[in-house]
Amino acid sequence: MKIITRISQMQRWALKHRSQGIGFVPTMGALHDGHLSLVRACRKENRFCVASIFVNPSQFGPGEDLKNYPRTFSADKALLLKEKVDILFYPGAREMYPDGFQTEVRVKELAHGLCGACRPVHFTGVAAVVAKLFNIVQPSRAYFGAKDYQQAVVIKRMAQDLNFPIGIRVLDTVREKDGLAMSSRNKYLSRPERMKAPLIYLSMLYAQELLRDGIKDARKLKEAVGEFLRPFVAKIDYIELVCPENLRPVATIGRVSLLAIACYIGKTRLIDNITLTLPAGRQAFFPLPRRGREVRGDGEGT
Ligand code: PAJ
Repeated sequence: MKIITRISQMQRWALKHRSQGIGFVPTMGALHDGHLSLVRACRKENRFCVASIFVNPSQFGPGEDLKNYPRTFSADKALLLKEKVDILFYPGAREMYPDGFQTEVRVKELAHGLCGACRPVHFTGVAAVVAKLFNIVQPSRAYFGAKDYQQAVVIKRMAQDLNFPIGIRVLDTVREKDGLAMSSRNKYLSRPERMKAPLIYLSMLYAQELLRDGIKDARKLKEAVGEFLRPFVAKIDYIELVCPENLRPVATIGRVSLLAIACYIGKTRLIDNITLTLPAGRQAFFPLPRRGREVRGDGEGT
């Protein structure tokens, strides 16, 4: 595995090899099995596999966790080496945002609700850095996780609107055995907080169960999930039921709706989502999740 820190070198390599097919997994590091599931798919489906690690300052708002974001480069490097990644692109902040940088990439309506309502600069920062990375790495396919569902929808829209010739693949959320969605931010949780965190996933299975009992009214379902979670969490940013395509809130559950949650366990903000389906699936309440199976993002991606 080659480690490249310069944009010019990365782009030169990419322009030389793009005709053979480059797959790309952008990350902010502190890698876990969720990231590695994307790397494995990328490795399988493309001649070359490029991963990036860049903690992107522009997607963190003031007072968010940019300074404390976990940085575990040596461990990340070892994991990517083991997965036979060809290139690790690892630029510094000055390399990506030199003096004089001014350009914004703003996706409008899709970035306004859910996390965009609580983190107003977040998706503008994500869209800008992903657009830059796409131009630097020149992939034919790029891999994202359904765990950050809104991010995946925003990036798909951006890629389509700006005519990036890139297939955006969205893969299932990978979970711990107890259902907690894997996340670099789980490292912030104390032991008692870690024990509470799977309740986010359980609250969503509870909603699926209520739907199976015939409750299709979105307001009632959101209230029930809120009542379930409230005793265990410090704050709820949102519990929302939306259309998985346009992310607009729904009043009644349609054939497929997305249930998305953002809440604080202690000081740590966690997000998760599942698709609720009608007629409801067959899984029993409190099942042990099968890894990566129970939550679909948008299906296969494009
Ligand atoms: P990061 O949080 O490091 O995530 C990198 C990719 O891994 C994202 O596509 C994310 O959705 C995916 N991912 C994270 N946890 C996952 C899980 N449990 N299961 C499956 N996939 C998972 O998302 C970002 O970085 C940044 O915003 C980035 C896109 C790199 C732009 O800076």
